[in-house]
Amino acid sequence: MKNSSVQIIRSKKDLRVQVKEWRMKGLKVGMVPTMGALHHGHLSLIKEIQKHVDKVVVSIFVNPKQFGPHEDFDKYPRSETTDIKQLEEVNTDLLYAPEAGEIYPDGFLTSVTVTKITEGLCAAKRPGHFDGVTTVVTKLLLQCLPDVALFGEKDFQQYTVLKQLAKDLDIPTEVMCGKLIRDDDGLATSSRNMYLSPEERQIALEIPKTLKQVIAEIEGGAMPLQEALDKGTQHLLDSGFKEVQYLEIRQSDNLEPITQTITETSPILARVLVAAVVGKTRLIDNMPIKILF
Ligand code: PAJ
Repeated sequence: MKNSSVQIIRSKKDLRVQVKEWRMKGLKVGMVPTMGALHHGHLSLIKEIQKHVDKVVVSIFVNPKQFGPHEDFDKYPRSETTDIKQLEEVNTDLLYAPEAGEIYPDGFLTSVTVTKITEGLCAAKRPGHFDGVTTVVTKLLLQCLPDVALFGEKDFQQYTVLKQLAKDLDIPTEVMCGKLIRDDDGLATSSRNMYLSPEERQIALEIPKTLKQVIAEIEGGAMPLQEALDKGTQHLLDSGFKEVQYLEIRQSDNLEPITQTITETSPILARVLVAAVVGKTRLIDNMPIKILF
């Protein structure tokens, strides 16, 4: 039986020492970056990466650079004690929980930008968000230098951007995608779901239902793409969402829009992606869809 206590490290220096020691023993290291307030989605990533590596590092850092000035950085849930208990339950080897100064010391001047795939979708209403994500993930990967890093399908644009980042910058880490986990009622599990009142949660459930409806209408050939998306958007607004920031279909591998000029004879693997606001809470979700012209 493996020892269940999690080693906690707060400095990049100590992290490097530990990872180097593992490497010298020929052990493969995996990393799951998070912002804490851990839930089943995070834990499923940890269980998944354990199949590929010998040692797992989970980082918890609520990254100020990826929150806009009017977003929820201050009230973002922070629950290190409960997070550690959950990490123990899934036999995590190491928690890296740096202080802000360890990531952004005084005089920090660098920002990492991935272009093109960071335009549109989540970026449209969250300017600078992906620069914050790519900057912090570059730092976390360089501080830890894991063999593998796992990101969730729930943030599909983020995963696509981070895969591109590691490739473009020759970061020697394989970036992998872990499947999207849902609560029993179908809502995509999220740290922000705890903001929802019971009434708002009922409204939120229309997101996965609408995605399924859009997919059925398009895959079944009952409706043209845009018509199904417009109907889905209207349905979400009628259900009580304050705003639908986007409901779009993009190609899975490069997030390019689907255009009628594509002359594929086999189905295009795509994603239907959504961001919508209920009350004060912004929710995102996505599902795979096959498009055949
Ligand atoms: P956070 O929202 O804490 O998510 C950490 C990881 O868990 C991300 O890869 C995210 O996609 C994944 N995740 C969240 N909910 C999930 C679900 N329901 N199913 C599967 N995976 C899920 O994403 C971030 O933090 C940050 O942007 C970060 C990458 C850590 C950079 O700060």
